[in-house]
Amino acid sequence: MKTTSTTILFGLAVSVALQQLAAKNTTIEWPVQDKAIQDKTVGAEDRRSKALSALCAAIDSNANYCQEWNDAEDFESLAKTTHGIALIAELLIAESEDPGWRKQLAELKSQTQSLLQAASADDKTAANTAIENIRKLSVELTTARPELVESPRYSQRNDIGRTMDLLDGTYADAKAALLFDEVEEAKREAFVLWKLGEYLRSQGSRGTTAARWLELADGFSQAALRAGELDDPNSDALRSALKLAHDQCEKCHNRE
Ligand code: HEC
Repeated sequence: MKTTSTTILFGLAVSVALQQLAAKNTTIEWPVQDKAIQDKTVGAEDRRSKALSALCAAIDSNANYCQEWNDAEDFESLAKTTHGIALIAELLIAESEDPGWRKQLAELKSQTQSLLQAASADDKTAANTAIENIRKLSVELTTARPELVESPRYSQRNDIGRTMDLLDGTYADAKAALLFDEVEEAKREAFVLWKLGEYLRSQGSRGTTAARWLELADGFSQAALRAGELDDPNSDALRSALKLAHDQCEKCHNRE
């Protein structure tokens, strides 16, 4: 980045200097760029910031589902999807300690509480207000660039069924996107699956040893990440990668 802005600022001077250096047969080093490429943590940051955008986009798409459930007065499904949004908020909270970020997410959680209350009271109007507020917050979160913690730590042990509902819905969204050849959209969902896998990892073993649980959760999240990072514009390749991630769902369910 620095080299680019330098080139823009001093365009002619730099190219003259380069010609002189080249003429002297001197090796030109570009320390900033080279280090960035070699440093694996840069890739990790990029991955995490992609996951952050994917999670914010998932809030918005789930808010759209909430709207549909509310319009259809299906308050049970509305509550289910709302729990999913609250879980996405948990995933996002763990990514950064930035006070502004935390404040927005506290507000998001409070709006999901309002939406749950509205759903249990069959209150369509109150639900509409909460959905609208959630949408606004998802836009704010999408444009925020909080500093990320080194590794997210998930403190709360959550209801496994709610986690699975979100995993299930997210996987279904990825498959649906592929039906319409929306490869980028499907990859975004794969990034959400990756984060959900990491979250599952922290949720304590169920029906198996702690070590096996970690292996199963890692197997799933790594397969999801591979799908998200697939460098192939072909939707068939992504379909196969997602299928491999799905095999890991089954592996965990059978505790193989
Ligand atoms: C690391 C383990 C693990 C992974 C990975 C996993 N699950 Fe699950 N899943 C569970 C557990 C534990 C349950 C609770 C039932 C049980 O004990 O099998 C469950 C239950 C479910 C249920 C039933 C939900 C309910 O309300 O009881 C669904 C649906 C589901 N999972 C979908 C998925 C999908 C889809 C994926 C992958 C995209 C996935 N799961 C990946 C562990 C896992």
